Amino acid sequence: MSRRIGVAVIGLGTIGQVHVEALKDLEKSTNLVKLVGIHSLSRRKVREFASRYGCKGYESYDDVVRDPEVDVVVIATPHYLHAWQAFYAMEHGKHVIVEKPMATTVTAAREMISKARRKGIKLGVIFQGRYADGVVELKRYVDSNALGKILLVTGEMMWYRDETSYYLKDELARSWRGLWATEGGGALINQAIHTIDLMLWFGGDVEEVVGYIDNLTHPSVNVEDIGIGVMKYRSGGYGVLIANLFTKPSTYQYRRIKIFGSKGQAELWDNELVFLKTEDDISIERKPGYSSETLKVPGGLHRKLFEDFLKALSEDRDFPITGEEGLKSLEIVRAIYYSSTRKTHVKLPLLADGVF
Ligand SMILES: NC(=O)c1ccc[n+]([C@@H]2O[C@H](COP(=O)([O-])OP(=O)(O)OC[C@H]3O[C@@H](n4cnc5c(N)ncnc54)[C@H](OP(=O)(O)O)[C@@H]3O)[C@@H](O)[C@H]2O)c1
Repeated sequence: MSRRIGVAVIGLGTIGQVHVEALKDLEKSTNLVKLVGIHSLSRRKVREFASRYGCKGYESYDDVVRDPEVDVVVIATPHYLHAWQAFYAMEHGKHVIVEKPMATTVTAAREMISKARRKGIKLGVIFQGRYADGVVELKRYVDSNALGKILLVTGEMMWYRDETSYYLKDELARSWRGLWATEGGGALINQAIHTIDLMLWFGGDVEEVVGYIDNLTHPSVNVEDIGIGVMKYRSGGYGVLIANLFTKPSTYQYRRIKIFGSKGQAELWDNELVFLKTEDDISIERKPGYSSETLKVPGGLHRKLFEDFLKALSEDRDFPITGEEGLKSLEIVRAIYYSSTRKTHVKLPLLADGVF
């Protein structure tokens, strides 16, 4: 592409604002991209952001997808909107970057993937954790076989979300959070999906899943605040995921992934590689720390992900986190939901989403 790639961001909530900042930063520091415009429900917000960032403020989604200056649509809206907004953008020939989860069902996600492939459109899913230095470092050790054959991966996401200040915070939060129809689930589909993505990135594809979900401490919403899943990897090893949103004191929240291989073990604490020991004498030991705040997302990793997507587009190569990659963690989430509600082991690929 000889001109800058034109991007529009849809949704200006917690993360959409991080997207806009990251793209504006890329606009200033590279010649890759131009933030063409933004769109959200609140007209006041649209006007305010358009004037602050010197871009167009679209009053409707139609205006976004019909704008010839827009090459890529970035979707940062509530989960239930992702699939149709992606379809509509692709229908108009736009490339799409969509926040996790790419959709609320595997059926919709598969439709998105096939539409993108049919139309030769790039569909990328936001799992920015894959761009963190510690994660990249660990992935390199795994791929170079430093840990040997991966036998067990454990993922713990011990976080906290307050009922009043998170689920019931304001009209926007109440419009979609905590509801199966709009959020598509709770701790697993919204927060732990990042951990699952990494467990799959390190451990490979999964053939069978069994799990539990429950809501132990958030009576005003009906989605899960605890999720537990056991996965059998195709390679023969196992993955165990435990995620909750009721960790107290909330000043001691953490996310930890541990890998046990035939030659060594490693531990990722949040996104930092804090421990790695192998029989070949590779050794890393760093001090982990707890978080009192897991809601704020620093923009640096989104910036890296956007830059990679835009370069992939201009060089006409594959962006690594394709729709197919985005589907994998969603499929695990849906399999745990299915397993828990139907009290059964679930073989992958999921044939259908099931009703629960
Ligand atoms: N990758 C990450 O680390 C990360 C972190 C946080 C969130 N996320 C994901 O990002 C997405 C958004 O989450 P969030 O926390 O930013 O949500 P949020 O704070 O509730 O913001 C949602 C935004 O979408 C806008 N919106 C709602 N309906 C719309 C429609 N029909 N058309 C256009 N805009 C619409 C809202 O508009 P108004 O504000 O104008 O009312 C709001 O700006 C979710 O998929 C979430 O899982 C990812």
